Amino acid sequence: MNKMLYDIPTRFESQRLVIRCYEPGDGEMYFNVAERNRQHLTRYESGNVILTIQNAEAGEVLVRQLQVDWLARKHFFIGAFEKTSGEFVAQIYVGPVNWELPEFSIGYFADCEHEGLGYVTEALCTILDFLFKDLGAHRLRLGCADTNLRSARVAERCGFRREGHIRENHTTPDGAYEGSYLYGLLRSEYLTQES
Ligand SMILES: CC(C)(COP(=O)(O)OP(=O)(O)OC[C@H]1O[C@@H](n2cnc3c(N)ncnc32)[C@H](O)[C@@H]1OP(=O)(O)O)[C@@H](O)C(=O)NCCC(=O)NCCS
Repeated sequence: MNKMLYDIPTRFESQRLVIRCYEPGDGEMYFNVAERNRQHLTRYESGNVILTIQNAEAGEVLVRQLQVDWLARKHFFIGAFEKTSGEFVAQIYVGPVNWELPEFSIGYFADCEHEGLGYVTEALCTILDFLFKDLGAHRLRLGCADTNLRSARVAERCGFRREGHIRENHTTPDGAYEGSYLYGLLRSEYLTQES
């Protein structure tokens, strides 16, 4: 199906979270998220676009661009916010790989002040439900460094299966060799887990 024909909501809810597309007015918040997470994201998310933000205006430009990209179905940068405080707690990334299958690629990070509370898992599970049940995804993929065990645990808690281990395919900032785990989750597996 043509990607523009999918109805894609811009807001979801889970038990503890509001999970939504970024929108005008989020720029300062997004800049503050970037500022406090620079160190936290250096090791495994150094290419994350949030790290390019150097001031609130640049944050506002980026959140507006991400909203445009969402509407164009280019990719989906999804913020998760605590219902009780309204604070940003995590981001989930969904990148279309193949709209015809369809297959999507998943990424995520936890806000450094909200790590270890189950928020990434909760937000990802909510998005998985949408991707499989409403968007008809056939397959999801996810990759992480083989030293990033916290990330691997999120994937496994959400039902992803390890499909591969690429050994020593890149180097760390310290120059050590590091490999990658590849994870996948099929629609049939997800729906079986649900029942
Ligand atoms: C990888 C990363 C996203 C994992 O974040 P996380 O906070 O551990 O993941 P969750 O929010 O799902 O929290 C799960 C943890 O909270 C614990 N937890 C505490 N309270 C909980 C609750 N009420 N419900 C569920 N889990 C809870 C879980 O036991 C789990 O801990 P464990 O992994 O030690 O068993 C985070 O470390 C991060 O942002 N790293 C830097 C960026 C990065 O590596 N991104 C991934 C690149 S592939």
